[in-house]
Amino acid sequence: MAINKSNRHKALHVSYTAGTGGGKAVAVQWAGMMPKSPCLSIFDPYGDYVYKKGSIDNTGFANKRVYHYSTKATFAKAFASAWASKKPFRIAYKPAEPSREEMLWFCKLMWLASDGQRRLDVIIEELAKWCDSTGKEQSAFGECLTGGRKFGLVMHCIFQRSTEVPKTILSMTPYKIVGIQETLADAERMARECGIPVNDILALDPLTYIKKNPKMGDIERLDLRHIYPDA
Ligand SMILES: Nc1ncnc2c1ncn2[C@@H]1O[C@H](COP(=O)(O)OP(=O)(O)OP(=O)(O)O)[C@@H](O)[C@H]1O
Ligand SMILES: [Mg+2]
Repeated sequence: MAINKSNRHKALHVSYTAGTGGGKAVAVQWAGMMPKSPCLSIFDPYGDYVYKKGSIDNTGFANKRVYHYSTKATFAKAFASAWASKKPFRIAYKPAEPSREEMLWFCKLMWLASDGQRRLDVIIEELAKWCDSTGKEQSAFGECLTGGRKFGLVMHCIFQRSTEVPKTILSMTPYKIVGIQETLADAERMARECGIPVNDILALDPLTYIKKNPKMGDIERLDLRHIYPDA
């Protein structure tokens, strides 16, 4: 059960939004929003963070090994033991048949584990697939976003199109990392959310981003092209 509620935890949730190939997965690893030694749990339905031993490419999470599990029982057991160890870890749930139900089960587990003493970073990949753009997201996932801050949860929400996710996701994530957008409607939506001219978003290249910090008007530019110079 989420215990030790504390209002002193700041809201650190992040949204990452970019069209395909825009560099969402690159940003979550390298944009500096993740602790160096995280307690990190990933809903990774497509295996984007699978670690390949000996590969010369960057694999895993920022080149660190990630342990993947594909059943609820094996993941829950491995997560419980990693979290109880009080040491940093990187672990992922990759269900055989990803669905909203699987995503919500994963979120529920994160919610129950959060204890208010330690930071627990949680990544949800391809969020739009597991949500409905209308509606309020009153679910275990919504609860992680709205109440999670007080219990040390930091949600990293990854989606291609902001017009395909519930509004609450943008309003509950004080940090927004915006890459190239697929449609004008998405670019306009993010321009409005960040309080910036839409042309600034339209001018982005893959692996370049605009980062909106919590304070109104606090905008940074990020360039992660050095991570993959050949991209
Ligand atoms: N391991 C890698 N080796 C080389 N280049 C990479 C690697 N990972 C990412 N890139 C480059 O960075 C770009 C962005 O990749 P990333 O996986 O972050 O995109 P994404 O926004 O998550 O896309 P998608 O929506 O398709 O998952 C890729 O198109 C590729 O050019
Ligand atoms: Mg991706």
